[in-house]
Amino acid sequence: MTNKITRREWLIGGTALAGGMVLAANAHAQSITIDGYVPTAANPIRMSSNENPYGINKKASIAMTNAHKYGGLYGGGGGQRPLTELIAGMENVPTENVMVAGGSGEILKTIALMVAMEGGKILAPNPTYDDTFMDYSNRRGIEKIWVPVAEDLSIDLDAMKAAYTDDVKIIYLCNPNNPIPTVMHGEKLKEFCKEMSQKCYVFVDEAYYEYVNDPNYQTMIPLITDYPNVVVTRTASKIHAFAGIRIGFGFGSTEMLGKIRSLMTGSINGPAMFGAIESYKDTDYQQFVLRKNAESLQILYDFFDKHGMRHIKSNANFTFFETGMDSKEVYDRIRKHGIAIGRPFPPKLDWMRISTARPEDTKFFTEAYEKEFFS
Ligand SMILES: Cc1ncc(COP(=O)(O)O)c(C=O)c1O
Repeated sequence: MTNKITRREWLIGGTALAGGMVLAANAHAQSITIDGYVPTAANPIRMSSNENPYGINKKASIAMTNAHKYGGLYGGGGGQRPLTELIAGMENVPTENVMVAGGSGEILKTIALMVAMEGGKILAPNPTYDDTFMDYSNRRGIEKIWVPVAEDLSIDLDAMKAAYTDDVKIIYLCNPNNPIPTVMHGEKLKEFCKEMSQKCYVFVDEAYYEYVNDPNYQTMIPLITDYPNVVVTRTASKIHAFAGIRIGFGFGSTEMLGKIRSLMTGSINGPAMFGAIESYKDTDYQQFVLRKNAESLQILYDFFDKHGMRHIKSNANFTFFETGMDSKEVYDRIRKHGIAIGRPFPPKLDWMRISTARPEDTKFFTEAYEKEFFS
């Protein structure tokens, strides 16, 4: 399958070019709840990049400000060890099985590089997260075997297993998936990882882990100590709003993390690590974000139900809905109302991804959609 469009191509190739550049120049959390902010096509409410519309929390912000005094020191003042210990403790794994990076994207790209160097193909569901790992692996010329999602748009593990060939080096599973925020059944995924990791690497990207509400979900982190070919990533970019600050985590065997580290070229921002420590400890803030996310999702579900539009009950900070028309047209028409929503995700070109904004902004989106398509 060759009709994949990366976010990069979408921004460069489409009418979004001018908008994308303006977006970067105005990159702050636009919300109609903020005095004086008027959503426009050039400066839209951001419902396109699965960001946290509330931004970093106060405690993290203060910790980062304080940590600037270590800015002149290599290592940034020693935040890495306590952050690693905190995360390892939360996940109940030894610290040697945890790595910190400047965003999980660093690790995703490095794993793609590892595969490029070792040789072999990537086996992945379609659609899935097509940025970072996929984009980087495309640029390294790594071949893919794409497996369509099931009828209900969830990742089809049986079909993935059936599509495996001896030249597959890694299986990429995004759980929850992106752009379709479904999850795989925990027990089934665990068995899949155990079996398939005897044959190749199995990479489980858990970027949206914190948002999951499906009781059958399970993280694959507990597998990493006994199954050295399993690797898991998490990120502080989503519920912790560190997308621009850049902190992410890898979980794997010491052999696996050793290979990844040996190829990494990035370094980690010192103050960011002190901020992450406070943010991960601040469960009140996380609960607040989850509550607001659920409110926004409910506004979207109610709207989609009202118009009989198929959609996914989300396990993340975005959902996926059927537009019944070219998603590029939907993007353009909604952008005129001052709202940026997801880009086209082949092969589901008559569906659209939408990230949650604050509930007030999400309501504003439904009103714009109503006006544009139903009146
Ligand atoms: C599934 C998935 N994995 C990884 C990432 C990259 O996140 P980070 O900001 O940690 O690089 C994203 C970002 O949107 C994502 O959606």
